[in-house]
Amino acid sequence: MSSIIKGFSKLTREEKIKKLKQTYELPDNLSDRLARYRHSGQQDLFDDFSENTLSNYFLPFGVAPNFLIDDKMYVVPMVVEESSVVAAASRAASFWATNGGFKTKVVNSLKKGHIWFKWNGPKIFFDPFPKTLENKLTQAVSSITANMEKRGGGIRGMKILPLEEMQTIFQLEVYFETVDSMGANFINSCLEEMKAPLQEFFTTQEDFKQFGDIEIIMAILSNYTTECLVTTQIECPVPALKPFASELSPELFAYRFKTAMDIAWMDTSRAVTHNKGIFNGTDAVVIATGNDFRAAEAAGHAWAAKDGQYRSLSKCEITEKGIFKMELTIPLALGTIGGLTRLHPLAGLAIEMLGNPSATQLMSIAASAGLANNFSAVASLVTTGIQKGHMKLHLINLLNSKGASAKEKEAAVNYFKNRIVSARAVEEFIENFRKQRNEQ
Ligand code: MEV
Repeated sequence: MSSIIKGFSKLTREEKIKKLKQTYELPDNLSDRLARYRHSGQQDLFDDFSENTLSNYFLPFGVAPNFLIDDKMYVVPMVVEESSVVAAASRAASFWATNGGFKTKVVNSLKKGHIWFKWNGPKIFFDPFPKTLENKLTQAVSSITANMEKRGGGIRGMKILPLEEMQTIFQLEVYFETVDSMGANFINSCLEEMKAPLQEFFTTQEDFKQFGDIEIIMAILSNYTTECLVTTQIECPVPALKPFASELSPELFAYRFKTAMDIAWMDTSRAVTHNKGIFNGTDAVVIATGNDFRAAEAAGHAWAAKDGQYRSLSKCEITEKGIFKMELTIPLALGTIGGLTRLHPLAGLAIEMLGNPSATQLMSIAASAGLANNFSAVASLVTTGIQKGHMKLHLINLLNSKGASAKEKEAAVNYFKNRIVSARAVEEFIENFRKQRNEQ
């Protein structure tokens, strides 16, 4: 246990690096390599986003233009490391822009949180919810909710429900409207502030007192934002799908596409990969705009399993009149103010590039990027497969990993135009290219 480092967070950055090198086996040039990616002007800002920051981790900030969403054109910023994601989103966006675009509906934007507590009384006491308790709790957080109310948000209701699987455990469920902010801090502050008055209510109200005090277990928002739902849809006549059908007729392509979608609905192993393809697009927008992608993922995957089996989040239909329809419904609790959304310079820029959307508009945009990626992925899977396009884009990564020069890259891109890209093939190409140049 001698290698436990005490008080690490209190050290300066250089002291931290020194300490780490003394304690762990780390590269000699650790300090230089970390320094290379520090920002010359705004490093303090990035340092403060987290703790123990040593450097910055770069990811590409790309864009997918031509996204027609609810009749408005967007260039959608995407932050993602997988080479084919932006290309796939862009291709789908351009196609759907000339086929009606994405039509979205934000079903609701409410968020919820819970205070979990133990009590020995019966659930009947909470039906209907005691008005005195509601007033007491609302009053207790009035200083926190005042600003949110000015912006059109605030508390939107509450109820107490028993956790049937655990006798004596109850949840106070509180609904919040947080307008354009994701609202996690606001919700958690309200819930924590409600703990004491909740406790007090049970010890002072005659009917309730007979069952003894409550024991509060915890108070926290729920990331299962089932009331914060967005649906995005695309549709076109089947013959219009030709550009994606490759060698197939549009009709056969549509049939295979729908079959692949049905497989993802029925089979969990396929559904997970299918949904990953949706999050390729959604997360890229969520990250670009400084939102919490872990929250979006957790909610999305729980939603995918809401009927007891994990299923695909998107569905497809071919109508009797030959119309291809595809739809994605996903819970997405996003913000366009608060958190990192404006503090991170590129997140702020991303939001400006989107025309300063409201939180609900951002939900529509992120969901549509997810559907675009999903459409492109399934279209590739039922025709050429994904590797052809993916490896073409990954070629540059493979060349970079071999330290290829600009000349070598140019020659490789030419060479692999009509050949299959693989790590081995690229290695061989580089070896031969260098050998030939040495012999010249
Ligand atoms: C790869 O990042 C995403 C896909 O696997 C999604 C899918 O299979 O639908 C192509």
